[in-house]
Amino acid sequence: MSDIRWRHKDLLDTAELSASEITHLLDMAERFDEINARPVKKVPTLRGKGIVLFFAEPSTRTRTSFDVAGKRLSADTYALATSGSSITKGESLRDTALTLQAMAPNIIVIRHSVSGAAAFLAERLSCSVVNAGDGRHAHPTQALLDAFTLRRHWKGDMRGKRLLIVGDIAHSRVARSNVFLWQKFGVSVRVFGPRTLLPPGIRDWPVEVHEDLDEALDGVDAVMALRLQLERQQAGLLPDLAEYARRFCIGMHHLEKAAPDAVVLHPGPINRGLEIASDLADSGRSRILDQVAAGVAVRMAVLFTLGMRDESVHEYLADHKDGIERKRQADGAGAVSEPGQATTAGA
Ligand code: CP
Repeated sequence: MSDIRWRHKDLLDTAELSASEITHLLDMAERFDEINARPVKKVPTLRGKGIVLFFAEPSTRTRTSFDVAGKRLSADTYALATSGSSITKGESLRDTALTLQAMAPNIIVIRHSVSGAAAFLAERLSCSVVNAGDGRHAHPTQALLDAFTLRRHWKGDMRGKRLLIVGDIAHSRVARSNVFLWQKFGVSVRVFGPRTLLPPGIRDWPVEVHEDLDEALDGVDAVMALRLQLERQQAGLLPDLAEYARRFCIGMHHLEKAAPDAVVLHPGPINRGLEIASDLADSGRSRILDQVAAGVAVRMAVLFTLGMRDESVHEYLADHKDGIERKRQADGAGAVSEPGQATTAGA
């Protein structure tokens, strides 16, 4: 695993990460994924650290996997949702954040409907802030788990691969964070969606914009169907959902035009028959549940990296040297069982 000096207080978007930083997180997630396959899925690395999960928008996958990830690292996690919090009484985002910070968490994970909400907090708080999705801006851990899933499927060989993203690009923080991640690894990204659901500056993005689905699918190595973000759309962008499904819903037959081992991803929640057909979502070509599983390992890697940023990983390793060596010998030479250990052991 690459040994890098982590330079970020926060994780706000994939655009701010270098290829080697992303690789470091994905390699670390691989180690955590090994831990997640064990009967006892817990390591003591973040014992005594506090993580606040501040979700001001609905979430199933992201909130649960951050909670599971924090607990598997032995951190204490505290959930705050908009309903049940004093935000409903008019407390501002800034005052809510300062209140949370006064309880001295190490990390605040935030999801918010406003683009830039995570950066707003990161500028004002001394603890680490992780963006768990802000408006239509960014969803960096989703893009990282997508990368984890496809890097595995592609057996680490990403350069020259082709990814097609289909659907509501304009309102998708997932699409944006994916585009800026894949650009760093030489993966070419194609997009296909209704003209009204392409962002105004799409021609400046590092993507190929397609207007014909058959051409867009030709030879691609993966297809990512996006959720139709009706809650963010203005009225009139889509005349008819049945028409949308007819033109943009990805089914099994579409993969005939893709590469023979092409797979399909979807960040979820999926709307069957609208964005992705059930025959494909439930098939062996679907990686949707692999994405969910990857989410735990990737978020463990993110929380570990930010949670340990105050303490040099090297100091941590020095303090735990004897235990690490005993564990390495018990596991067999070269088998590194804990990401914190692997940071230098693998270097
Ligand atoms: N992919 C994703 O962000 O899902 P949730 O909204 O369920 O967290």
